[in-house]
Amino acid sequence: MVETLMRKTRIAVLGTGGTIAGEASSASDVLSYQDSQLSAADTLAPLAPYLPREVELLALQISQLGSENFSTDTWLLLAHAISRLDQTEEPDGFVLTQGTDTLEETAYFLHLALKTAKPVVVVGAMRPATAISADGPLNLLRAVQLAASPQVRGFGVMVVANERIFSAREVTKSHTSSIDSFCSPEFGCVGYMQNGDVKLHRMPSRHHTINSPFSVSGLQSLPKVDIVYAYAGAGSESIRAFLDGGTRGLVHAGTGNGSISSVHQMAYREAILRGVAVVRSSRTGSGLVSRNGAVDDDAFGSISSDTLSPQKARVLLSLALTLKQDAPELQRYFDNY
Ligand code: SIN
Repeated sequence: MVETLMRKTRIAVLGTGGTIAGEASSASDVLSYQDSQLSAADTLAPLAPYLPREVELLALQISQLGSENFSTDTWLLLAHAISRLDQTEEPDGFVLTQGTDTLEETAYFLHLALKTAKPVVVVGAMRPATAISADGPLNLLRAVQLAASPQVRGFGVMVVANERIFSAREVTKSHTSSIDSFCSPEFGCVGYMQNGDVKLHRMPSRHHTINSPFSVSGLQSLPKVDIVYAYAGAGSESIRAFLDGGTRGLVHAGTGNGSISSVHQMAYREAILRGVAVVRSSRTGSGLVSRNGAVDDDAFGSISSDTLSPQKARVLLSLALTLKQDAPELQRYFDNY
């Protein structure tokens, strides 16, 4: 008899804290709790009976941090940890557990920066692990199942939440507390998890991971990029403070189609003259900020964010500034990533 030795599908699970690792004093308390208490191994323990036998998990604790405390250094730490693991442990896929508050930013950063075709799934929870009806264990089980699926090889970084699969570029947190908080307002999900089966409907269309020019290998810090929020009567103090703080890029979270008030325009003109990149995005939450629409970008020297939200535009601009400085080249990144 010939015996075939099959290597198990190995999934590396990196824990960073957040509500998925949170604990409350009462199982009925879903709002006041301590986040970042359980280790990655602890959060995986309830999944054991439901994991297919051919899947093996490798749990690693990277940090214990609410995601509101993440910084661009945390993103680099995670990218470096995943790249190192990819070489040393050769897993078939990755799951990153983190707080949901800035989950979409980490996911998009990794989507642009990682050099792997293996599935990478970022997952969190809206309720602490101690809640009667905690969403973390099911989200995490689905994340492992998705990361183990050869169907999503080459999809880049995905987020799975409440049985939906999203692409990192498109997903956003849209509710303060509902378990159905994650959505993609413009494009919808890329597929569903159905009792653990991956049901895909489309592929992410923009370039990412192995098809992006961005590399963070050896990089210890990212260029400083800040977000300026627009509102009726806003002054230019924040822009001036960011310039004094040494910012290299400013993302305008603009009204409507990325419009800029005359007060802000004066300050941005000075920024552009100083070589600081200015990207126009919108605070509306959906839609495409059209180039040369609300502002004549060609004349002003600004860049339009395409469909990226202010926080996602900041991620792309930080990486783009590691390669290019001039507005037309930066615009090309926003048109393609
Ligand atoms: C966090 O982002 O760390 C807290 C909130 C959450 O995980 O849902």
